[in-house]
Amino acid sequence: MESILEEIFGDVLIPRLYPQSFVAKTDINKIRDILLHGPPGTGKSLIARTVCDILNVNPKVIRGPEIFSSMLGQSEQNIRDLFEDARQDQRNFGSNSKLHVIVFDEIDAVCKNRTQSSSVRDTVHDNVTAQLLAEIDGMIYLDNILLIGTTNILEAIDPALLRSGRMEKVIKIELPDAAARSAIFDIHTKALIRNAALNEDVNINHIIRRTAGMTGAHMEQIVRLAVQAAMRRDILKRDKFDITEEEAEALEVCHRDFIEALSKITT
Ligand SMILES: Nc1ncnc2c1ncn2[C@@H]1O[C@H](COP(=O)(O)OP(=O)(O)O)[C@@H](O)[C@H]1O
Ligand SMILES: [Mg+2]
Repeated sequence: MESILEEIFGDVLIPRLYPQSFVAKTDINKIRDILLHGPPGTGKSLIARTVCDILNVNPKVIRGPEIFSSMLGQSEQNIRDLFEDARQDQRNFGSNSKLHVIVFDEIDAVCKNRTQSSSVRDTVHDNVTAQLLAEIDGMIYLDNILLIGTTNILEAIDPALLRSGRMEKVIKIELPDAAARSAIFDIHTKALIRNAALNEDVNINHIIRRTAGMTGAHMEQIVRLAVQAAMRRDILKRDKFDITEEEAEALEVCHRDFIEALSKITT
């Protein structure tokens, strides 16, 4: 994931970090859209959040189908409204406008592959997809906008979104290899290590081997389940329900807790 963040940083973020009035004087091409695709749990939403943190922007986030309204025509209006602030800022402030980030998490819910939809044509979906495509086409006039889409299945997206460079940067997120899983494991055990709560008997290499084919989300879940297993073990041993702070401080997550956690993971 670091390499992906590096790629985004170089191509997408750097031109956004400089004062835009300066960038306007250069010929730098600013990327306006990123599409992240890959299996669930590989960190796509996490990347979108990280990008916004680096840019120090509060994004508008649309999760899955939440843009849809039961009122006729309102769903299309909702899409238009999303882009309206950026349009107004561009009109009012030109190259001094602040950056607007719109995140469509699981964009396939909004921009469905119409050829794959059911035999009953869903007009609302079609209208919303058409509206979003029109907004994206209109973004060519906007310098102050970055759209980030994520999807678990590239094929579920309307091919029109992928055609003719509408998404300027399409990035595939792969399942993490052993080194990446190890790095993710380190991230999620950092707090345990800092608090001296990770027993020395934990065989990280074994855990990394046992998690082949799993995602970052699985790694996080394994650590969480291992902590729970350790707590349960501790409570049973102490045979009481009120644990003092001192007793809690003594808690250590051991290798067998990770083994128990691994046995509970379903992929
Ligand atoms: N590369 C990673 N590094 C650290 N944690 C990760 C990574 N990938 C996934 N995770 C963990 O899994 C959780 C879920 O990931 P998420 O970004 O929601 O996946 P996706 O959007 O691809 O389904 C994250 O909040 C994080 O805790
Ligand atoms: Mg996600």
